[in-house]
Amino acid sequence: MTPKTAQEIRSAFTSFFSERGHAVLPSASLIPRDPTVLFTVAGMVPFKPYFLGEETSPHPRAVTVQKCVRAGGKHNDLDEIGRTRRHLTFFEMLGNFSFGDYFKAEAIDWAWEFTTEGLGFDPDRLWVTVHHRDDEAAEIWREAAGVSPQRIQRMGEDNYWRMAETGPCGPCSEIFFDKGPEFGPDGGPAHGGEDRYLEFWNLVFMQFDQRPEGQVPLPEPSIDTGAGLERILTLIQGVESVFDIDEMVQLVGEASSVTGVKLGASPHSDVTLRSLAEHARTTAFLISDWVFTSNEDRRIGAMCCAASCAGPSAGPICWASPRR
Ligand code: SER
Repeated sequence: MTPKTAQEIRSAFTSFFSERGHAVLPSASLIPRDPTVLFTVAGMVPFKPYFLGEETSPHPRAVTVQKCVRAGGKHNDLDEIGRTRRHLTFFEMLGNFSFGDYFKAEAIDWAWEFTTEGLGFDPDRLWVTVHHRDDEAAEIWREAAGVSPQRIQRMGEDNYWRMAETGPCGPCSEIFFDKGPEFGPDGGPAHGGEDRYLEFWNLVFMQFDQRPEGQVPLPEPSIDTGAGLERILTLIQGVESVFDIDEMVQLVGEASSVTGVKLGASPHSDVTLRSLAEHARTTAFLISDWVFTSNEDRRIGAMCCAASCAGPSAGPICWASPRR
């Protein structure tokens, strides 16, 4: 049985990687203990000290379902909300991580196995991209995973992932699902457009620390992957956008009933209804992690330490921060 609901997908993902030696860790707080990002923008953020070699992870491999918010700084999707079918400021990221343990071969192999067997996606509808200089990743996709060379495309900066202006980074490889010709022209993710070819999983081959003065190699090559739960649900539930998945559709309906504006009344009001629903969801998760509004600085609520150290959002790394 392939998973259908959000909870089934979360648990299929963590079980798959747990069976392959990964420690299953809880989501960390949306408040990072790192000044380079406003919020936790990806599953790797809590693990930055492990990638940089500043701390040693108790587990060489980990798997998480991480709460993320992209609403500020380098990763900021605020202006896309309601205008595209795929962006959310709050989303859940399914990620498997290697801290100096396995590298490209295992990351690619397992991503392909989980996508095609775990999620049951038809391999003929999948495309992958690699960084234009990453011959090794292209070869693993072709030889080990068996992806047809026509469906492996090379891209430039889009296939190089950075946490922020500084910090861990490296070439990446993305997996896309072809939603079909009704969503745009042919040509694969490099030419066919992002509505048709939906990127749902990014595998980052972490190799460098970006510093203000330039890049230095990480102590050990590492793996950081992230798959968007809501995007996977869009594909599994066969709906048009992330606003149509069961987790979102009720919130959009609520925005419509509160405002008295019907979905479909106009393209402009649809963007507004989706934004209301989306921002309410994001705000609820931020408040539950003790984020308060301020016009001065990034501040952390007075009860934040107790809440995030003892509560369900406790992360693998303690988020207690002296910045108060
Ligand atoms: N850090 C990468 C991303 O956010 C993979 O998770 O896309």
